[in-house]
Amino acid sequence: RATLSLLTTRTVLRAHSLLGDPLARVISPDGGPLLDAYRRVRLGGPLVRSRLGAWATARHSVASQILRDPRFGVVPFAGDSRALLPQPKVGGGTLVHPINDSFLSLDPPRHTRLRRLVAPWFTPRALRARTDRVEAIVRRRLDELDTARPVDLMADFATAVPVEVICDLLGVPTPEHARFATWGEVLAGTLDGLFTVREMDRLHATMVEMDAFFRELMDFRRRHPGEDVVSEVVRSTGPDDDVTTEDLLATTELLLVAGFETTVNLIGNGVLALLSHPDALRRFLADPGLAENLVEEVLRHDSPVQFTGRIVREDMVFEGARLRRDEPVLVLLSGANRDPAVFDDPERFDIARANAREHLSFSGGVHYCLGAGLARLEGAVALRELFQRFPRLELAGEPLPRPTRLIHGVRTLPVRCHAPA
Ligand code: HEM
Repeated sequence: RATLSLLTTRTVLRAHSLLGDPLARVISPDGGPLLDAYRRVRLGGPLVRSRLGAWATARHSVASQILRDPRFGVVPFAGDSRALLPQPKVGGGTLVHPINDSFLSLDPPRHTRLRRLVAPWFTPRALRARTDRVEAIVRRRLDELDTARPVDLMADFATAVPVEVICDLLGVPTPEHARFATWGEVLAGTLDGLFTVREMDRLHATMVEMDAFFRELMDFRRRHPGEDVVSEVVRSTGPDDDVTTEDLLATTELLLVAGFETTVNLIGNGVLALLSHPDALRRFLADPGLAENLVEEVLRHDSPVQFTGRIVREDMVFEGARLRRDEPVLVLLSGANRDPAVFDDPERFDIARANAREHLSFSGGVHYCLGAGLARLEGAVALRELFQRFPRLELAGEPLPRPTRLIHGVRTLPVRCHAPA
């Protein structure tokens, strides 16, 4: 696979020499409180243009329109954009970050072709059939939590559950799960951009290892098919197909990257929000049936993915703004989630909020998160089972925030579980 080109929104800005622009503060780790920046962008108008040429929106209605409008493409990673990108030197071969090579970074019709390959695994029916397995994974993890001393809930629960769920879906054998967790962490850690040679080397090494692993897994599943995504994608595509082995690799790796740290932080943010809002926690303990709505409110209030990027595909006037082809647009999902035009008293964490589900944390349009149903299922089961089992769960130290901007959550969450009396 070709050159290492990590094309995140930050990289787009960098590619367009936009770092240093006030807008870049929104996505830079030292840019100050995020929600203030989002509010400023929202108050600035439907679309705010930065001095150096990028656009941003934090309004719910505008963000929804952009995500659904084919005149805004996903950030291209190949072809001409490559020339724009910083091309870091990395030891040996050249690679593309799995997200950049996957259907998340492609416009239709190619996007449609590849998404269809794996979509059957995420239908409501397929998810209903998986519910028991997710519940079993969550319960097993709860059984293993130490109740005698403080534990880091991020490592021991919030990370452990999504890793097992995604490995189960992909048909990855249990002994490999720990490696998967490390890969997911490295890849998610690079989503803000790559800034040092060390980070590039680490990413490079991870991708070499991951590529080799998935190639082997696909070969194995060709010979020994199981009931999993990898078996299915190799079964449904032949040598004469327009889908190459590279496409299959990028697709399965996308499921790992997209489905892992996002869900880890949904669970972590959910636990932290409940522990920080005792009234909400009391209400949830009294009515565990609120789990599904609680998950929507956690997604709205503390979106694990803070923003996404699009590229203007043609010159146009949009919401009164004159947009030019190839200009980048930041869609501030988390800003849209706090838009008072849609959500009453948006700063309030309200687990019974009637329209919490209108959040944009899963994006929208053709790239609407394929795994949204699975994430909702994992989040609801994890939060319900955790607090049912340990109703006296409490913080045992200060959680350590993640330094990343794109992915929002905590790196550690020290808690005391307290065995039920
Ligand atoms: C796409 C968020 C969980 C698979 C996306 C996008 C967002 C997102 C924002 C679209 C980005 C864009 O429009 O540019 C989340 C969040 C999750 C989550 C917040 C958890 C709370 C999952 C899970 C899976 C998954 C569990 C699968 C196992 C995908 C895939 C795409 C995607 C395959 C690409 C869809 C496409 O381009 O057509 N996700 N995701 N996600 N997500 Fe998720």
